[in-house]
Amino acid sequence: MSDVQGYIDREMSRFQEELFEFLRIPSVSARSEHNADTQDAARWVADQMTSAGLESSVFETPGHPVVLGEWRGAPSGAPTILIYGHYDVQPPEPLDEWVSPAFEPTVREGNLFARGASDDKGQIFLHLKALEAQLKGAGTLPVNVVVLAEGEEEVGSPNLVPFIEAHKDRLQADAVVISDSSMFAPGLPSLLFSLRGLAYFEIHVRGPEGDLHSGTYGGAVVNPGNVIAGLLNSLKDHQGRVAIPGFYDDVVEWDEKTRANIRSLPFDASGFEAEVGAPGFNGEAGYTLLERLWIRPTCDVNGILCGYTGEGAKTVLPARAMAKVSFRLVPNQSPERVKELLAAHLAEVAPPEVTVEVVELHGGRPWKAELEGKYFEAAQAALGKAFGTPPVLTGEGGSIPIVVDFQEILEAPVLLMGFAPPGANMHAPNEWIPLENFEMGIRAMARFYEELAQ
Ligand code: BES
Ligand code: MN
Ligand code: MN
Repeated sequence: MSDVQGYIDREMSRFQEELFEFLRIPSVSARSEHNADTQDAARWVADQMTSAGLESSVFETPGHPVVLGEWRGAPSGAPTILIYGHYDVQPPEPLDEWVSPAFEPTVREGNLFARGASDDKGQIFLHLKALEAQLKGAGTLPVNVVVLAEGEEEVGSPNLVPFIEAHKDRLQADAVVISDSSMFAPGLPSLLFSLRGLAYFEIHVRGPEGDLHSGTYGGAVVNPGNVIAGLLNSLKDHQGRVAIPGFYDDVVEWDEKTRANIRSLPFDASGFEAEVGAPGFNGEAGYTLLERLWIRPTCDVNGILCGYTGEGAKTVLPARAMAKVSFRLVPNQSPERVKELLAAHLAEVAPPEVTVEVVELHGGRPWKAELEGKYFEAAQAALGKAFGTPPVLTGEGGSIPIVVDFQEILEAPVLLMGFAPPGANMHAPNEWIPLENFEMGIRAMARFYEELAQ
């Protein structure tokens, strides 16, 4: 056993204690009352980088800080790897659905429960521990490393592209590695071939100046609640397709090789049913469940606000209605184009007696991996050796908008290898990661560096 794997053996319980400490910091980026906590989390990450043997710096931004860790001791001509992750987390609500409190990490049957356990604190931290194990266990690394940890991923990374552009030279890398996704099945590592993009909007419908008595005025005054229901209903057809004219124009059909690979995956349908807990499933005709989740675009209502929703009956004709609606995008759709198409469609469908406004919340482009090259092969080999089984290629329905920007600005390939379990409850109560995944992630990354030494 190399010094590095031996170091991991010896230090594993401390690594876990440190992860618990990280998870106790409620670094919720969406809530300004947690601004001091995101600051604390940024400093905590910087201190961890320093004790791992990296040089660390914290950069203030108009939002939450960016933390950089650097080690540039590799022989001249050696490549540079950029590791990206995020230390911010989603809000923990609804609190009463957590079995143990969101920010009190708790281990049950070898699984660690806490907000951020999988998304993404547990995963960015395992990279820091792999680097520590290399630098303390072997005394060196075969490549230069830059770690970028941001605190605004969960709010759409509004300040990250300007940061990357401003520090382009310092961030220059030969490959970018990200662990912010899941494994396909327990014990089965995954490398991603794609991520969906995102286009997220608020639709506001405004009618009369104020709420009205629905008996006195109903029937003659157009009700924004009825209108928004119709608008939302017009967004999809009965075949599970988005019904906005032009929506599919930029969608590129995936190749047969990718679709055959998806069909070959050991999909556990009953596990998926149990994970979701819905009475049934449906989606776009002509595509399998995994294809619907990974390689086809979607339209989902995320929230609706309108009228009276308190106890009992109130006969009111509401003045306003609002819905949050998001689209998951696939190559080569763009959030900008989807916004234009949505606005044009709603203008066409809505009655003239109300006004309709579309407000963009955030967007991100879809991403398709390059499944070749030295770094991809090193990742495949490292995952295979660490887990004892080669990784599968999987898609992902979620979005990490900055991935495409890394690829374009740094002109480097991006590798996504996630260590979250399927059904990690990201963004939901009782988020978790198996402690084993945390450990195997550290071991896999240590092997990745060993592969690059050869
Ligand atoms: N880590 C997730 C994305 C993800 C989830 C990848 C599950 C793989 C599996 C990321 O933190 C996230 O939540 N992204 C958001 C988009 C962002 C703009 C808020 C998403 O996908 O909704
Ligand atoms: Mn994430
Ligand atoms: Mn997330």
